[in-house]
Amino acid sequence: MRTSLSPFGLVVTPEAGEDVCSLPPALLARWVGQHRLVVLRGFPVVGVEDLADCARAWGPLLRWDFGEVFDVTAVHAVPFHWDGPWAEQTPSYLFFHCPAAPVSGWEMTFCDTTRLLASLSVDELRRWDGVTITYHGGYADCVYSSRLVDVHPITGEPVLRYQEPHDPAAYPIPLLLEFTGVPDAAGLVAELRDRLYDPRFCVTHRWQSGDFLLVDNHALLHRRDPLPVATLPPLHRVHIL
Ligand SMILES: [Fe+2]
Repeated sequence: MRTSLSPFGLVVTPEAGEDVCSLPPALLARWVGQHRLVVLRGFPVVGVEDLADCARAWGPLLRWDFGEVFDVTAVHAVPFHWDGPWAEQTPSYLFFHCPAAPVSGWEMTFCDTTRLLASLSVDELRRWDGVTITYHGGYADCVYSSRLVDVHPITGEPVLRYQEPHDPAAYPIPLLLEFTGVPDAAGLVAELRDRLYDPRFCVTHRWQSGDFLLVDNHALLHRRDPLPVATLPPLHRVHIL
């Protein structure tokens, strides 16, 4: 069964006997292309050793130093960002699996930047369109640059590429932003924060045990709040190119 979420996203539950790894890749690509975020709920749990093989059926995987499957273990907050801008190829999709969720408190919020950009006036879009940001530090501890308004490499739509700065007072690893093409960088940061947290563009996913989540990493930015250590769940993530 399929249920649309608001303002975007799709929840899919299985037919009898269906498992995630048997879903046709073309069908998943269509769902995530239309809905940006697909929750696969109620399917049999997949062991971490089989998760990469399952995801590989949908596309080649990004291989990091630690391998293909990352266990999300950090409990600190992570502000809005997209994954892998410093990688040799930015992943197209994030694929998560949460075999056992805690009772509460484990959430992730996604912002559909195509909707956000579509809401801007012509003047606002023109102003944002000329901005480039160079990022210094952060969890990747490197330097990389990106246009603020970029092009979705699959659909050709305009998308927002933005990593929120980490306040050095609140985060152990600061992420500093250097702007070009905008006279009032502080004003732009405030403007971006207002837009990114606007509920018209956001979906908060509350993890349930067994959930799989397939996410368009080019169209969406994601963030999460801090999590108490005692409720840390096992959450696995794979990057699909
Ligand atoms: Fe991330």
